Amino acid sequence: MAYRKITAAEGAAMIKDGENIGFSGFTPNGVPKAVIRELSKRAVAEHDAGRPFKVGILTGASSCQSLEGDFANAHAIKFRAPFSTNADFRRHANMGEIDYEDMHLGHMAERLRRGFYGDIDWAIIEVSAIEDAGDKLRIFLTSADGIVPTIVRLAKRVILELNTFHDPRVRYLHDEYECAEYPYRQPIPLLSVGGRIGKEYLELDPSKLVGVVECCIPEEARSFKAVTPETEAIGNHVVDFFLNDIKKGHIPPSMFPIQSGVGVTGNAVMRAIGNNAQLPKLEVFSEVVQDAIIDMMLEDKIAHASVAAMTVSNECLRKVYDNIGFFKSRITLRPSELSNSAELIHRFGVIAMNTALECDIYGNENSSHVCGSKLMNGIGGSCDYERNGSISIFYTPSTAKNGCISAIVPQCCHIDSTEHDVDVIITEQGIADLRGKGPARRAEEIIENCAHPDYRPLLREYQRIASQGHEPCALRAAFAFHDTLVNKGDMRLTDFAEYMK
Ligand code: COA
Repeated sequence: MAYRKITAAEGAAMIKDGENIGFSGFTPNGVPKAVIRELSKRAVAEHDAGRPFKVGILTGASSCQSLEGDFANAHAIKFRAPFSTNADFRRHANMGEIDYEDMHLGHMAERLRRGFYGDIDWAIIEVSAIEDAGDKLRIFLTSADGIVPTIVRLAKRVILELNTFHDPRVRYLHDEYECAEYPYRQPIPLLSVGGRIGKEYLELDPSKLVGVVECCIPEEARSFKAVTPETEAIGNHVVDFFLNDIKKGHIPPSMFPIQSGVGVTGNAVMRAIGNNAQLPKLEVFSEVVQDAIIDMMLEDKIAHASVAAMTVSNECLRKVYDNIGFFKSRITLRPSELSNSAELIHRFGVIAMNTALECDIYGNENSSHVCGSKLMNGIGGSCDYERNGSISIFYTPSTAKNGCISAIVPQCCHIDSTEHDVDVIITEQGIADLRGKGPARRAEEIIENCAHPDYRPLLREYQRIASQGHEPCALRAAFAFHDTLVNKGDMRLTDFAEYMK
């Protein structure tokens, strides 16, 4: 079956103001990069000509600069879900310009199927190969999956980007499967982290295919800040926690599969795990593999990683492609409704490890909003894992911004994960194990083991003024740290007496 080749500009020219577009990709990887670059130029041109131009952007997770950053700068985003880590997007969202639904990544495909986002006018999908299969086309994805099975099926029209930067043998990593919708859902038949239940390809109805853009564009991969003494100490505490829990019999000697969140701290934790000789060979059931996990596989420290994306540098991706025979039995790329499935996370007893912006003295956690109002990124998949895993760990350096911000506060001013779901908090100061403890003992653990010494006296003072009830709270002083930060620029200047007048 011959398909129609089009240019990226021709693809972009077909999209109308107000339409909803579903994109392949999960993090910057696997995102189609040719049409979006033309589309953001077009948005600027339309606005210069005095015409409105905004589109809805639906993806598996965060995306790349050319998509959400440049579109935000071009004022071209009507709606966005489910997650972003982009600084330009954040700036425009915090100016109130963008209707952004910060949503569990594991729920995205289901919400699309149930119609909460309206019609999916377009799917723009990056592929590594296209094959003819009678009345269908077989399309093979690249370095990520995400919500692709669902948007390819639901979209009215499809543009494919055949990106030769990717090695077509990446197909061996993919396991494509889509869940049925209520009330026809069946158990997901995946019984082991490395098992396969789907196909290497997706089927596309050729009548929906508008054209294929041929290109060769590298991934817009992000680089990580270097490991710091604080993040290294956090990593070492995580390893100590695992070894202790194995000794106590809470975790089997073979370990449970692990999930590790994105970001600087998550990457440092994986490095510490990789550097420890006492831990057994691990399995990863998570959203992404980062460079550290690829290195650990080559060192035979990780048996298998089941994820939605390879969020790795271009050099690391080349390493995977050049050694595909080695990696094809070690990495499985799945749609995000499987990588982040509550059912599978619960079945495998995944250990969830995510990064917090702040935790309060009872174990509530905030990873998305600074001082209650300013969006940082969003929850991503953290809650998919923390609520359903066998152990939920949140880590964070105990202070931020040169000590002016304490990551341990009297009360979180925005809550993403509640005290009922957070088992363990780890900072460079130490470990608070909250399992089996009520509010008073939790507060003791968190203040004494995790808070920075500069903030412990202030937190103890808060405890004294909030002395009533099962989970004591002094309503007028609960947000004193945040209020002091906003007004004086440094939480250490908190004067509780002012708030209790
Ligand atoms: N208040 C204000 N700013 C804070 C803060 C706080 N309590 N704690 C950290 N920050 C700032 C840091 O100073 C840093 O700022 P900078 O970029 O100007 O240097 C920024 O937040 C990011 O922190 P960093 O230390 O670089 O950590 P990170 O890369 O590990 O990211 C999160 C931390 C919380 C932002 C990130 O992990 C996240 O978005 N988490 C939510 C989503 C998630 O968990 N996903 C995992 C599954 S997808």
